[in-house]
Amino acid sequence: MPARIIKENIYAVGAVDWDRTLFDALIPLPHGTSYNAYLVKGAEKIALLDTVEPAKLKVLQENLAQLNIKSIDYVISHHAEQDHSGSIPAILQQFPAARLIANKKGQDMLLPLLKLPPERIQLIEDRQTLPLGGKTLQFIFAPWVHWPETMFSYLMENKILFSCDLFGSHLASSELFASGNENTILEMKRYYAEIMMPFASRISKHLEILTAFDIQMIAPSHGPIHDEPARVFSAYRDWISSEVKNEVVLLYISMHGSTENIANYLADCLIQKNIKVKPFNLISASLGEIALALVDAATIIIASPAVLMGPHPNVVYATYLINALKPKTKYAGILGSFGWGNKVVDQISNLLQDLGVEFLPPLLIKGHPREQDYSEIQRFANLIDDKHQSLFNQMAITH
Ligand code: FEO
Repeated sequence: MPARIIKENIYAVGAVDWDRTLFDALIPLPHGTSYNAYLVKGAEKIALLDTVEPAKLKVLQENLAQLNIKSIDYVISHHAEQDHSGSIPAILQQFPAARLIANKKGQDMLLPLLKLPPERIQLIEDRQTLPLGGKTLQFIFAPWVHWPETMFSYLMENKILFSCDLFGSHLASSELFASGNENTILEMKRYYAEIMMPFASRISKHLEILTAFDIQMIAPSHGPIHDEPARVFSAYRDWISSEVKNEVVLLYISMHGSTENIANYLADCLIQKNIKVKPFNLISASLGEIALALVDAATIIIASPAVLMGPHPNVVYATYLINALKPKTKYAGILGSFGWGNKVVDQISNLLQDLGVEFLPPLLIKGHPREQDYSEIQRFANLIDDKHQSLFNQMAITH
């Protein structure tokens, strides 16, 4: 992707990665991603805001050459993760006069991660400004969205927020701007679910801080630039709020059909009660899709067969990740089928201990479900419906 102009003397110089399918060896990328770097040319100084994944260094260098950039005064590191910082050593080598701008926590991470010469780093403080000549960057520290050193910068004259990973999306696109594309909000939600959701309370504080800034454009480190910031703030406020929807995320896996029958019957019972059900068979379900579904759901149900006394390993994997993602879900339920004594309930509930959910009474069925078992599953669905109704009544009262 060539360098593209955002506004006069402000350019997108990063790289689009159409082919990448996995991030952090964990997160599926169904639509690729981008590593956004920005160049701001003041009358006196030039600043490069972040770099790119090292595999895309050549693209960044070609974009700088296209703009005829012979020297850079400042390389700004908003975040030490290597998809943005990984090309800093090469850029510092290419532009020997450039100073690397970082905060103290950033320095402490960049030095060991990238083996940088410490003398190249210039530390800045929260809210410090960096004049470039007619363009002024102000740094806004934003710890834990999603690393401790994360910061934003605000280009005062143009009212652009460079928001690092926050408000980003893993979306490879030839479009520079989101411009009302609904798909961008969906991909931003997926990114929120996978990366930002564990930090919802921190994000809430940062959103509050950002209300003091007049922001006309948000330029994140992944995905399109948001030229309608109000839509972005509104979507984020919804996701980080404590309010949930009348939805159940149903994770299941089955070895001989019993657990699948239980899960399917439960889904039918819930649907009859007008509860939206999002089922995921853990044989092949995508972590990203599960995370996305968890943003809104009031309840998580996990249905597992017993394998060597414990839950199926795929259930352990999914449950561990759900606990780490910390969705705002209010209730959790465990169902399953077993052949002899098992520890499925204990082990799954232990894995979910950070969620702070109310656990519904578990329902384990010996072998294939029989008539009385289906009645129990119906009662289980009734209980979920009762819990949801009382929750939504409570929410209505508090509004
Ligand atoms: Fe896009 Fe946390 O790096």
